[in-house]
Amino acid sequence: MDLLLLEKALLGLFVAIIVAITVSKLRGKKFKLPPGPFPVPVFGNWLQVGDDLNHRNLTDLAKKYGNMFLLRMGQRNLVTVSSPELAREVLFTQGVEFGSRTRNVVFDIFTGKGQDMVFTVYGEHWRKMRRIMTVPFFTNKVVQQNRHGWEMEIGAVVEDVRNNPEASTKGTIIRRRLQLMMYNNMYRMMFDRRFESEEDPLFLKLRVLNGERSRLAQSFEYNYGDFIPILRPFLGKYLKKCQETKDKRIKLFKDYFLDERKKLTSTKGSDGLKCAIDHIVEAEQKGEINEDNVLYIVENINVAAIETTLWSIEWGIAELVNHPEIQQKLRKELDDALGSQQITEPDTYKLPYLNAVIKETLRLRMAIPLLVPHMNLHDAKLNGFDIPAESKILVNAWWLANNPEHWKKPEEFRPERFLEEESNVEANGNDFRFLPFGAGRRSCPGIILAMPILGITLGRLVQNFELLPPPGQKQIDTTERAGQFSMNILNHSNIVAKPRVL
Ligand code: HEM
Repeated sequence: MDLLLLEKALLGLFVAIIVAITVSKLRGKKFKLPPGPFPVPVFGNWLQVGDDLNHRNLTDLAKKYGNMFLLRMGQRNLVTVSSPELAREVLFTQGVEFGSRTRNVVFDIFTGKGQDMVFTVYGEHWRKMRRIMTVPFFTNKVVQQNRHGWEMEIGAVVEDVRNNPEASTKGTIIRRRLQLMMYNNMYRMMFDRRFESEEDPLFLKLRVLNGERSRLAQSFEYNYGDFIPILRPFLGKYLKKCQETKDKRIKLFKDYFLDERKKLTSTKGSDGLKCAIDHIVEAEQKGEINEDNVLYIVENINVAAIETTLWSIEWGIAELVNHPEIQQKLRKELDDALGSQQITEPDTYKLPYLNAVIKETLRLRMAIPLLVPHMNLHDAKLNGFDIPAESKILVNAWWLANNPEHWKKPEEFRPERFLEEESNVEANGNDFRFLPFGAGRRSCPGIILAMPILGITLGRLVQNFELLPPPGQKQIDTTERAGQFSMNILNHSNIVAKPRVL
């Protein structure tokens, strides 16, 4: 029986190799493909480059093969672009052609094959979802309605840290408290709900399931089975875990948040203040989207909004701790401008050094260093080369923002650059060397919320505390952990927060 199976597997492999060779010969004739390492049948370049396709490894490959190169990862084509001109072409000039998203086997599970907004292909569904999400999430009116909530939440963080005697001596993993804050910022907006403490059982459930989702989705360990279909059976256990996590999360969103909110609004009527999900449910009631789409919007916000902003806050704190002179300069700006007044959202736009600190954090420690992968639905042309349909297109935004050909000493954390030689560069994609939120059609609509939240949070912390490494340490560890397209801090360090007398 086993022999029969082995025979079948070998026969399968043989057929796959023949098909792959034929296909690659046919393609070779038809296409002028971008440069890259020579692929072998079935595996492509996988044996040469491996699974770990993070921004740094892709930067090394760009140094070898140029600003645009092609990797054949098993059956998938992966094109990486690393120059501002090519980024402009992909995101802006040919924004429609390259405006779709690829999903791998794991993202297919977590997004129900693109029923969400972030991972859906460019087209009618995406346009509808983006339109439906704009009014409740991405306008200045939303910022004005929610900013007092955000100010209250960071106020509560400051209070808690002040009341924790260890915070000013041994230090505290302040990220944990800030994570609760980010959940509250977003769950207030979405559902008019907040979690009382880090021990709140519902918060704990959410945190665990979201953490598991991120770990499973961002890991490189499943790449082999995604790239090479004949190896996919070996992913069985992994994909089952993904499916279970996805089912539990969606059920949690539905049972504890969506259904509760629907019940509340149906009994109270529409006289209460609307929160974001009420607008989304209205679109569901009008038949524009279905309940699955509503739940995937909640899923998207949990990842796209909470994690990215939290990672950026954590990177900002780490850099301020490791650069006390920059922290001091920021504190002086805040003190001079505001005295003993606590920073609020309107102040964030008037503090140039605070903005420079935020931009420098987003440049050096880009949370989404490869943007969210793009894709061309149809055969396309880029820089004189053919890009076969359904190629995964990665824009190496981290390298664009850290390439010494384009930036003065990019390895240095130096906010002053955004007040001096780069004073015209904004985070909104006005310069294709600096794309922390992407640019063009698929750029991040959440920038309108993320920037003030970053400003209020970092501003309040620096106003109220001197942030230091734990006793006996000169610096905190800033080792990176890279994922499929994410970059966060590997170790969540203790931070000493010495209260200031204001
Ligand atoms: C510091 C925080 C954030 C960073 C660094 C960030 C970065 C990004 C990046 C790089 C993209 C992909 C752009 C592309 O593929 O071209 C993206 C997409 C997206 N972001 Fe953000 N983001 C942040 C916060 C937020 C927030 C607060 C929200 C929502 C409230 C949000 C919602 C989204 C959505 C919905 C998309 C998908 C857009 C689409 O595919 O059309 N993000 N973000």
